[in-house]
Amino acid sequence: MITKDIHQALTALNNNQVIGMPTETVYGLAANAFNEKAVERVFSLKQRPLYNPLIVHIHSSGYLKKIARDIPKAAEKLAERFWPGALTLILKKQNTIPDIVTSGKDTLAVRVPNHPLCLKLLKELDFPLAAPSANPFGSISPTSAEHVEEYFGDSIPLVLDGGPCIKGIESTIVGFDGEQAVIYRLGSISKEAIEKVLGPVKLSNQLSENQSPNAPGMLAKHYAPRTPTLLCSSILEAKAKYKDRKLGFLLFQQNIEGEDESRQEILSKSGNLEEAARNLYAAMHRLDKLGLSLILAEQLPSEGLGEAINDKLRRASQ
Ligand code: TXA
Ligand code: MG
Repeated sequence: MITKDIHQALTALNNNQVIGMPTETVYGLAANAFNEKAVERVFSLKQRPLYNPLIVHIHSSGYLKKIARDIPKAAEKLAERFWPGALTLILKKQNTIPDIVTSGKDTLAVRVPNHPLCLKLLKELDFPLAAPSANPFGSISPTSAEHVEEYFGDSIPLVLDGGPCIKGIESTIVGFDGEQAVIYRLGSISKEAIEKVLGPVKLSNQLSENQSPNAPGMLAKHYAPRTPTLLCSSILEAKAKYKDRKLGFLLFQQNIEGEDESRQEILSKSGNLEEAARNLYAAMHRLDKLGLSLILAEQLPSEGLGEAINDKLRRASQ
């Protein structure tokens, strides 16, 4: 059931149920982060391996000291600049957070989301919310309440409807090696924006085949439609090569003349990368419903959010 009634959402969460929750990046599958049973249910609903830890959502940086410790200066700077917002920090955890949330790691992923309804929820509750993206493991992330309802409608009491997500791709995950920041997952905040605050940062170069990666957002196959998808540097060459297939197109700015409009998704006519990010997953969801045999995705400029979008498309096209 989709609802805008925050009281129903609060009741469900206080009863340790799992709900669909809006954030500015993507919708989450949220549960009381202090309650092991509730968190267990999140893993089983998502069919998510237990080695893949969850992100904990809090209402303000003031809450951080209750769940994290030994916070690096660099992390404080980032939190000050980007919270509330699409930045997830990996910090040393406190014992208040049960092991299941962090998959037994001594670190914790945490962020303050920038969505009015979500912040209101968090402020009314006595506990933070553990919430992965509200999609079955490996599939396309949800950017509307309807997407969550389609995935989990029958198995959760409600999806709190906060409208379409303004950012549209996941938070950027940053961890620390001492004071040195390392980006574990590219997302809604660009590497350039983080470097404006801290100077040069590293991009984690862990092997994507790794069974227990630092951030499984870095797993090779991820964010994938059911329809086979191919990331292409030249969409016209790819179209010629696969002309016998029933094709769909995920395009940056321009449509392809002579092709059926209904099988083409334009991410941003004006070439705005923020707009492209906002439209990305909804466009993938629509194409995935058309019974196509192949989706050709056009590579975006590799600057700013373009890099994060290309990263998602690369993982979708493995
Ligand atoms: O925008 C977002 O981050 C959304 C919204 C709902 O907040 N959430 C999200 O969660 O994308 P999820 O579960 O799909 O991705 C969380 C990522 C995973 O790749 C996980 O491995 C990583 O965070 N992560 C969680 N705890 C970690 C830790 N202690 N160390 C390293 N990575 C961690
Ligand atoms: Mg996810």
